[in-house]
Amino acid sequence: MSQEPKRGHFAKEKGEVILREHEFDGIQEYDQKLPNWWLFTFYGAIVWFVVHWAVYYHTSSIKSAHQIVAEEITAIQQAKAAELEKTLASLDDSTLAHEWATKPEVVAAGEVTYLTNCSACHAADFSATMTAGTVKVPLPGLPLNDGQWKFGGKPMDIFKLVNEGSPPESTGHNGAKMQVWGQTLSPKQIAEVTAYLIAKLPDDFKDIPAK
Ligand code: HEC
Repeated sequence: MSQEPKRGHFAKEKGEVILREHEFDGIQEYDQKLPNWWLFTFYGAIVWFVVHWAVYYHTSSIKSAHQIVAEEITAIQQAKAAELEKTLASLDDSTLAHEWATKPEVVAAGEVTYLTNCSACHAADFSATMTAGTVKVPLPGLPLNDGQWKFGGKPMDIFKLVNEGSPPESTGHNGAKMQVWGQTLSPKQIAEVTAYLIAKLPDDFKDIPAK
């Protein structure tokens, strides 16, 4: 009398090991019930998936990474706009020339900004050239020490040009334009670098009246 192989719990209770009937390359398979901790984890994961899927995709209670980033970018843009407004509110030609440009720590900070961001195109000596051996090679920027200001020579003209980049109607200098530095530098840094130019090129700004 052949006995039906016992399965699952029943066999486990008896301490029996059940093997499946098939065999491949001498390999046989157990036919045991999986332990409860494993099954509950598995069913739990299925339930969790359904709940999470419903909450995540069909309610707005969990924000997607995209929403979080978009909100952060909006907050940063608002903070930058507010900062620019605050800086601009107190900023004018006279303040830049007589308050910012006369403070050594402001000028020193502007120099750091200039040497880091601007000298590659305008040169540390403002000549917009560099010397390679005995040859003077022009750099992409306009010279700043020639007494000419293509977009206006008042401190606020320079602030605006640096902050907003070349105006749209500008055809550039040898095809090159000024980038919108307001995207990388804070209004304070732009005011500092403007103050640095005023301090280093005093002849160009000597006619700005004090308040
Ligand atoms: C990649 C090269 C480049 C860099 C870097 C650069 N500029 Fe310029 N800059 C230019 C070009 C090109 C022009 C001319 C733009 C035009 O004609 O539209 C210009 C114009 C100017 C002008 C007007 C000059 C004039 O004679 O009227 C000022 C001021 C100026 N840049 C300041 C700065 C400051 C400050 C920085 C650093 C924050 C800076 N630039 C960084 C390329 C550069």
